[in-house]
Order: sequence, then structure tokens, then C-alpha cells
Amino acid sequence: MCGIVGYIGPKQASTFLIEGLSKLEYRGYDSAGIAVHDGNKITIEKTIGRLANLEQKLEHHKLEGSLGIGHTRWATHGRPSDVNSHPHSDCTGNFVVVHNGIIENYMHLKEQLIAKGHVFTSETDTEVVAHLLEEYYDGDFEASVKRVLGDISGSYALVFMSKFEPNKIICTKQDNPLVIGLGEGENFIASDIPAIINRTRRTYILSDGEMAVVTKDSVWVTNRQGVPITKKVFEVNWDAEAAEKGGYEHFMIKEIYEQPKAIRETMTSRLAKDNSHIIFDELKWTKGELAAIKKVVIVACGTAYHAGIVGKYYIESLARIPVEVDVASEFRYRFPLVDENTLAIVISQSGETLDTLAALKEAKRLGATTLAITNVVGSSISREADQVVYTWAGPEIAVASTKAYTTQLISMAMLSIYMAGIRETISAERSQELISGLRNLPTQVHEILEDVEPIKTFAQQYGFNEDVFFIGRSLDYAVALEGALKLKEISYIHAEAYAAGELKHGTLALIIEGVPVIALATQHDVYEKTLSNIKEVKARDAVVIGIAQQGDDQIKKYVDHTIFIPQADKYLAPILAVIPLQLLSYYAAVTRGCDVDKPRNLAKSVTVE
Ligand code: G6P
Repeated sequence: MCGIVGYIGPKQASTFLIEGLSKLEYRGYDSAGIAVHDGNKITIEKTIGRLANLEQKLEHHKLEGSLGIGHTRWATHGRPSDVNSHPHSDCTGNFVVVHNGIIENYMHLKEQLIAKGHVFTSETDTEVVAHLLEEYYDGDFEASVKRVLGDISGSYALVFMSKFEPNKIICTKQDNPLVIGLGEGENFIASDIPAIINRTRRTYILSDGEMAVVTKDSVWVTNRQGVPITKKVFEVNWDAEAAEKGGYEHFMIKEIYEQPKAIRETMTSRLAKDNSHIIFDELKWTKGELAAIKKVVIVACGTAYHAGIVGKYYIESLARIPVEVDVASEFRYRFPLVDENTLAIVISQSGETLDTLAALKEAKRLGATTLAITNVVGSSISREADQVVYTWAGPEIAVASTKAYTTQLISMAMLSIYMAGIRETISAERSQELISGLRNLPTQVHEILEDVEPIKTFAQQYGFNEDVFFIGRSLDYAVALEGALKLKEISYIHAEAYAAGELKHGTLALIIEGVPVIALATQHDVYEKTLSNIKEVKARDAVVIGIAQQGDDQIKKYVDHTIFIPQADKYLAPILAVIPLQLLSYYAAVTRGCDVDKPRNLAKSVTVE
């Protein structure tokens, strides 16, 4: 996600703003900017690209002043560009804001503000906040900010400056982190602790709904109703490196824990409030357009390919269109049957994977309509595709993909329900059932993450076995593939995933006493069959860890250990079932002393064929 910094005190604000932003560089971003108040007016400098570009600009155009805010942007609404970079201001330049998160109702607010004569310069959701403040400002900065907050919905960390208040910064948060660093005669604001750790270790961690008025000597925290809140000082005792990981030992585990938020943000503004349908403003497909699509091909690599396999299941069973899934490096060389009646969906976290990009170009050349599902706005794949659905997972740093995968599944689920709705291959009740199921997922993922001790224990117990098998049927098989890949990637354990029913056609020969088998049994329609396959491996004395839905009383009789996931629709169970597998791989890798975030021989973004 984006990074925020703020400074108020006796020194030049820009020095801290740049230093603070540089500490957030590890998160990845596409543009940066700062705004500084010189006592009379606010001046903004911002630019696309690395922080070095901004620094270069500032060399020619120094921003003097001891009050300022800054931002590094990871684009969501609006491509990376100078104008879309933060800070954003209103029509007059009197109000300036930086924002992390997503303002869900920005389109509606923007239309209203345009009707009132406001002129927008960017494509971002954030800019509405600055214009709203201009609209409401009546001489009382705090009260006007509160009115703005009453109008916006979504997730945010927001920091405001006003030309009329050269001694004050206001900040607030909802579902996005924000901390205030307490100095001597100066105060700091940041979205993440690494930005301030060199200046102070004494912080206030803001909670949702809290608003802070920060001056150089004081921090006044209230709730939205203005009731004062006494904050406890939180002393940061991590070193700078640990702070980048938010206190987690590795980026991978941090990203695993970020999944509830990533999933929520990916669904934000795409689920109708009454759960009746999916909203894809970026697609707006008509019945006629979808009727013309006779085939879908999904192309991707690695983890994204596994998301594609789930996607095939979703689209075929819900929207009833035939789907082929290809590994991108194979697609181009098999003379695929693709024409103008084909929809080619490419899935890529980075949007830069060369194999996937090449496959996309090939599909386009053959006449297909192309759609990219990617996490990086402005990436090569997003620019090449005809249409784009973004996963809003935020930057993923660990090589092994976790939150990108779950948000890819969410995107595929939403896309399939959306297509099925237009094609009328799904009933209103079923659609509603699935959408309300989607809505429950962040809480359910959170529930799994609350209880990781048993998973840790299994990983420590079986982490030194050299072979592990994953089995499952139907959607469980797709999850098994991802589980095995995760384990291979980061713990270097030889892991294989099999369709549970296929095991007996060869691989069963490898099952001997003590071999761990992870058996996924979350799919009710094939449950009994899966149980038979579990019995097959148990009969060869394998150690079986079953992954099942809560309320399944049978499974325990057939397996050695069970990990339960919260109850969910069979279509949505993969999004939950993969979480224990991610954790299992993570803890196995830690047990074996592997370099979790940077596994040997692998890279996060592979731009060679
Ligand atoms: C690399 C990474 C994998 C990833 C794959 C596809 O091989 O190590 O984790 O799944 O690329 O990446 P993409 O960015 O296209 O999703």
C-alpha cells in the first residue's frame, strides 16, 4: 500500500519527509510527493517514479517550512502519473491531503462536487477529500474535517493540512494504519513505524475512528464525536529491520496476516450493498458481448496459474462457458485455438512476468479480447490488456505469493458471479448466497490466523520429512497444487499434489509408513470419495493431516490430525483452505532455517522466458 509521513516542529519539514519516505521504500511504490507550509502558503512537489526523482526536483525547488506531509503511492484508482501522485489539493490550494486506502463512494461524491463547480485534476479517489474540505470549510478546521469524514466511506489513513492553520496537522484512520511519533518540541506522523524509528520510539498508535490534532508541542486525540481519548504511549522496541516487517519476522508471514485486509479491499466497492450482484465498473460487459464469448482461456505462471485453475472451475460451473487454463510458457507454443470469440484472462501479481506478457500479446494477435487480473497498476500487463481487474492486495514483497493468490481467487469468484449474472446462468438466490459468503471471508480468514499454534506444531513435527503429498478432489485439488508449490518454494521439501482419485494410478507406490499426506476434504459433493482416498493412504501407514470444514465430525476417525477451517460455501472454501497450507509451509521453512522471503534460485518477478 502507500506510505504516509508528516512533520511539525522547529526544523525543515522536507528533511524528515524525505527521510521518512525513504524508510518506506522497501514496500514498493510508483510515485512520491510532499507538501510544505511556509507560514503563508502550502507548496506541493510530486512526481512519478522513485524518491530520487522527487529529491532531484526538490534540489531545484526547495520547499522551506516546518510543517509538511508526504506520500509514496502504490496506484489503485488512476494510473501512476505526476497528477495522480499525492499530496492532493482542492481548487484553491488551501487544503492538502495525503491518503492510504480506498474511498469507496468517491465517484458519487465527485459527481456532486463537479456539479457544484469543483475542478478535478486527477483520476484518484483521494482528490474528493480535498474538495470536500474546501466545500465544508467555515473557519473551523477540525469541524470541517469531521464533516468530510461523515461523507466518505471506505478504508483510509488521512492526513490534512490547511493554509489557514500553519501550526496544525490533522490525521485520522479507518482500517489503515497510522502512528504518531512523539518528539521533543516536534511530532511526526507515519503510516508505518520504520518511517519514524530514527527520530523517536515513543508513539501513539491510532485506532479506527480516532482523529488527532497534532501541533509541535501537543497531540490531541478524540473520537469522531469529539470526545477526548487518552492514548497510551507505545514504546517501539524493534530494530529498524524488524520495524519494516511491522514486528513480524518475515515479510511472508506479515503478508499472510494482511490477507483479511487485502481481501476486503479487493472486494470493496465491487459487492452490491444488498449482496444482489457484483459491480465491475471497470468492465461493464453487456449480455451481447458475453454471448459472443464462446471460450475463455486463462494463462498465468506459478501461483497465479493455480488461481487460474480455480478460476476455470468457477467460470465453467457458474457462467457455463468452456475454459482452458494454460501455463504461460506453454501457451504460445501449442498453437492455441484462440479467435475473436475468445476471452483471454491473464493473471499476474506483478504484471511484469515475461511469459505471461508474451502469452497475452499472442492471444491479442490471434484476435481474443484480453483481460488482466493484476496487482500492479500501470504494469506492462495492465497496459497491454484490453481490460483490467485489479487485485488490491498492496505490494507483495516475499517471493512466495500469499495475499496476491487469495485476492486473485476473490477476483475470479467475483468475475464468475458477474459473468453468470449477465448470462443468467445463476439464480438470484445463489448469487446472493455467494456474495454474502464472500463478505464473510475476511473475518473467517482472521479466525484461522488467530489459532496457528497447532499448524506450527505440525510444521515442526513434519518439517524434516523429505517428501510430502497433498491430495484433494475438485477445488481441493486446485488448493493442493498451491499448497505443494508453497512448501517446495520456501522449505525445499519435495512436495507433490495429486487429484485424490488419481493417486491409485501410480503415485500410491510412494506412500509408505510415516510419509506425511495433507488431505483436503472441504468439498461436500466429493467428500465420501475423498474419504476413500484418505483410507487408501492410511492403509499404507501415511501420517495424514486432514483439512476440513468445521462441523465435520467424521474426518477425525480417518486422519491423524485435523485442521478445521470455518464453514463456507464449497466455492469459497479454497480461499480459506489455502491459509493453513501457507502457514504450514512458512513454519516448515522456519523450522528448517530457510531464507523464507528470498528462497534460493527464485525471484519475485521473472522477466525472462
Ligand atoms: C515467480 C514467483 C512466483 C509467482 C510467479 C508469477 O515465479 O516466484 O511466486 O507466482 O512468478 O508471478 P506473477 O507476478 O506473474 O503473478
